[in-house]
Amino acid sequence: MECVTASAPGKCILFGEHAVVYGHPAVAVAIDQRISVKIQPSPNNLWLLDGSSLNMNRNPHIKGLIEKLWPEQFGAPPLSIHIEGNIPRASGLGSSAALSVATAAALRTARGRWVSKTDGTQQQHWLEGFGSTITNSEPYDNSLGFFAQESPAERYHITGKSSVDYDECAILAHGVEAAAQQGRASPMDSSTCSHGGMIIISDVIEQGVDYLYQRTLAMADATRHWHIHKMTPPSNAEDMFLVIGNTGIYAPTGKQVANVADMLLQDPSRMKEIDTIGQIARRGIEALKEGDFDRVGRTMTENQLMLSSIGVSSPELDNLIKAASPSSLGAKLTGAGGGGCMVALTKKPKETSDAIELAGGRTLISRLGSSGLSIDDSQNAPLWTKA
Ligand code: PMV
Repeated sequence: MECVTASAPGKCILFGEHAVVYGHPAVAVAIDQRISVKIQPSPNNLWLLDGSSLNMNRNPHIKGLIEKLWPEQFGAPPLSIHIEGNIPRASGLGSSAALSVATAAALRTARGRWVSKTDGTQQQHWLEGFGSTITNSEPYDNSLGFFAQESPAERYHITGKSSVDYDECAILAHGVEAAAQQGRASPMDSSTCSHGGMIIISDVIEQGVDYLYQRTLAMADATRHWHIHKMTPPSNAEDMFLVIGNTGIYAPTGKQVANVADMLLQDPSRMKEIDTIGQIARRGIEALKEGDFDRVGRTMTENQLMLSSIGVSSPELDNLIKAASPSSLGAKLTGAGGGGCMVALTKKPKETSDAIELAGGRTLISRLGSSGLSIDDSQNAPLWTKA
């Protein structure tokens, strides 16, 4: 039986949500909780999601990826998609980005990769994504000899792990996130859920961390540019835990992002608050680079004050943050706010988790910076190739 299963982690934002949409720096870490997407040929020639008919309008991320990677007009057959995972939806933990990254990776592997030759020696890197400048992408695994073999069609067909490119899955996920958020989405979630680890997004190229690529997105009001970096967590990060407290309140990202945009439209002087979040995030990045987690925690708490000031916190989030504070180094909401989750940085995960649960939150515990997307199973791939 043909099938491909791919998974991607959720993420938690340590600094800079909302301001990152306006080009300011931010830091996100991949968490231990993941979403897994399994695709198989459909048994009844209809698109299926968890055994029922797939409603494309209710699943815009999946729809966007199918249009890009699995186009019906070229004869791509319907699939049966099965989603599993332990990232709560619409709660600031990047569930839609993790779903998008895992779906992109599964479809990409299921399709195989065609690399067209431009002449006898050159291979064209064939990227089927949303146009963007990608630099420093993960090199292909030439040791497997894929590029050395010539097929009659002068194309190369690569399947398996090497056919999945972190950058490509990140950019595909960013494209569908932006479409689902009325054109406003930073690449933070998609890059973190694809690459894993600790991701720094900045308006400038940061020193002392690995540069991944630049992303550009034309939004209604302006074109934004972000430099994306990956940071190796400092060695003392091993003693640190994130305790995530879920208010259980549904808080779609698009609505929160639109609220902030409206606030700025009505009173442009409030861009000062967004700029302050950017400055706080910059201090947070410095503290992380120094491995000074006491300061990281204090900076998270400072970030929370500004998030409250722009109106994206809520009484329920404030309540969980207050409960977590005595046992943690710092706490703040994570993601779009208005409900969803808060995160506490702590050395005492059990104590912090108990305090949050007592205050009515549901908790998850994670280390800082889990691994990124992975292809967990691939049997008899490709499931379809464009002729
Ligand atoms: O709520 P989440 O996990 O989708 O995070 C949203 C983060 C924002 O900065 C509010 C939006 C964005 O696109 O970066």
